[in-house]
Amino acid sequence: MSSSFKEDYSDDFEVTPWKVEGSVDYARLIKKFGTQEITDELLEKMESFTGELHPLLRNKFFFSHRDLDWILNKYENNEKFYLYTGRGPSGMVHLGHLMPWFLTKHLQDKFDSNLLFQITDDEKFLFGNKTMDEIKKNVYENILDIIAIGFKKSRTKILVNTRHIKNLYSNSLEIAKRITFSTAKSIFGFTNSTNIGMIGFPPLQGVPCFLPSIIEGKPTPVLIPAAIDQDPYWRLTRDIAEKMGFYKPAQIHSKFLPSLQTTGKMSSSDPESALFTTDEPKIIEEKVSNAFTGGQPTTLLQKKLGGNPGICSVFSYLRYLFDAPMESNERELKCRSGNLLCGECKHDLSSHSTAFISMFQERREKAKDLVSDFMYSEDN
Ligand code: TYM
Repeated sequence: MSSSFKEDYSDDFEVTPWKVEGSVDYARLIKKFGTQEITDELLEKMESFTGELHPLLRNKFFFSHRDLDWILNKYENNEKFYLYTGRGPSGMVHLGHLMPWFLTKHLQDKFDSNLLFQITDDEKFLFGNKTMDEIKKNVYENILDIIAIGFKKSRTKILVNTRHIKNLYSNSLEIAKRITFSTAKSIFGFTNSTNIGMIGFPPLQGVPCFLPSIIEGKPTPVLIPAAIDQDPYWRLTRDIAEKMGFYKPAQIHSKFLPSLQTTGKMSSSDPESALFTTDEPKIIEEKVSNAFTGGQPTTLLQKKLGGNPGICSVFSYLRYLFDAPMESNERELKCRSGNLLCGECKHDLSSHSTAFISMFQERREKAKDLVSDFMYSEDN
């Protein structure tokens, strides 16, 4: 097992389930984490099942995987897979969180998969300064976002850890018993000052990797769409899966939608860094107008030297969320050649985000009547 992430990345970037800092080198991350790149060949295979490639696969926002080829082969041989994803309710949901959920919905539609959606309220209580009451409010608000994505009601079940603990606990003990402190320390970088709740938490995030096999009464493949920050949890569960008589869970990993302010990812705990699904239009405009770009300090220099879309948060949001591929390539060329000013891109992002978020807010309103339909049954 490799040494802790902190030691690996302390010089330039750091990626853990609780912190993403610096400018992430994704090619290097694949090597360090020991995951696989999503190749064009694998995308072709995916396309042969789905008929069309989801934009987040085509534009390589999802760039890495574990056993995606294996799970597609299983599907080809008539073994259907479950999807599993989740949310740690540290605050309101931002556009970054939606990215893995968009792909999850697409996969649910195309493969007609059951989906387990875990809400780790315990994790966010243990890690951070929020009270349990504050976290509980976030749980409700976040559930509205999850439902607003449009998952199939009949095939989606949301588990909230503190509420569904009796459905999770025995299996979590089976996992916990097979993991030493030394392994957990090396995977998560725990230290002597980490509270012991955090140290004991990871098995709970592991349980839904195996719950489908328990529900179905036979080993059942599971595919987890998430950003790559969650990979440490899967490494832990993959290590012990076969010893417990289950398949190793497969993953498909995304990059991070960046912070609007600097490098690093959008974060719920830093409101200025993110566009939230609950933001009002005026707030969205303000945040976008203050966003970090790859532009030059003056219009004159921008026209002369061009900008750098490679480091521009506004360009990334437009590329991954709103621009069609050709449009994005043209935007890049125009920016680099000095024929596009940051104000124009900010205007485009502001109007696209405002329209999208207001449509999403209507869906959140409608979701209020559906909450109980989406909850995992405690009697299971
Ligand atoms: P959380 O709440 O931090 O994040 C929820 C999901 O969003 C992804 N994510 C992002 N994706 C793109 N750009 C960003 N800026 C960005 N920030 C976060 C995360 O990778 C995640 O997929 N411990 C988890 C909750 C959880 C979970 C799971 C997540 C429980 N079971 C299974 C994924 C799969 C958490 O706190 O996620």
